[in-house]
Amino acid sequence: MSGAPELKLLAISGSLRRGSFNTALARALAALAPAGTSIVTAPSIGVLPLYDADIENDEGFPASVLELADAVRAADGVIIVTPEYNYSVPGVLKNAIDWVSRVPGQPFSGKPVLIQSASPGMLGGARAQYHLRQILVFLEAQVFNRPEVFVAAAHTKIDKESGALIDEATRKFAAAQLAAFAAYIRRVAS
Ligand code: FNR
Repeated sequence: MSGAPELKLLAISGSLRRGSFNTALARALAALAPAGTSIVTAPSIGVLPLYDADIENDEGFPASVLELADAVRAADGVIIVTPEYNYSVPGVLKNAIDWVSRVPGQPFSGKPVLIQSASPGMLGGARAQYHLRQILVFLEAQVFNRPEVFVAAAHTKIDKESGALIDEATRKFAAAQLAAFAAYIRRVAS
């Protein structure tokens, strides 16, 4: 890379499932990132309690929330890789976003965010992506527009045993999107 500072990206999976296609996709992205870009996967968002203002007011933010908020704040960009549940985002992902949004300084504000989704279905989670975009509007995140990546028929593209992203076309789409996202971050940040 031509002397540009290294970009550090944080990938968050919206699924808690052990064999999750979305978590596998999130993990596969590190190998597809452009030069000068590194991607780390956030710990499972399943460790966060359900959002309750009484916890926030009586006990303060749970350590797991502060850890995720710090990771979002420290990242040059965030990649959210999520399933679609009933035409929207999974409750666990909304819960994580709700918690982080309450942390002083609101870590998503101004943060470049990339969205991907994977589903065994034919739309690849498209409807969840557009709901997620709507949520991120209120948080003033800088959501990357396109190219978009929807991994449809995910069970044919992600190896169930190893979690490897085995579909060459999807690898190319994802790599191209990551390269465009890295360029977008450098533009937004400059
Ligand atoms: C689903 N699934 C699903 N898929 C989809 O494309 N559109 C949808 O609206 C839904 N709705 C839905 C609701 C609920 C409650 C579940 C549990 C599942 C199927 C879903 O895409 C599939 O289970 C994926 O494998 C979930 O992603 P992970 O866990 O593999 O990452």
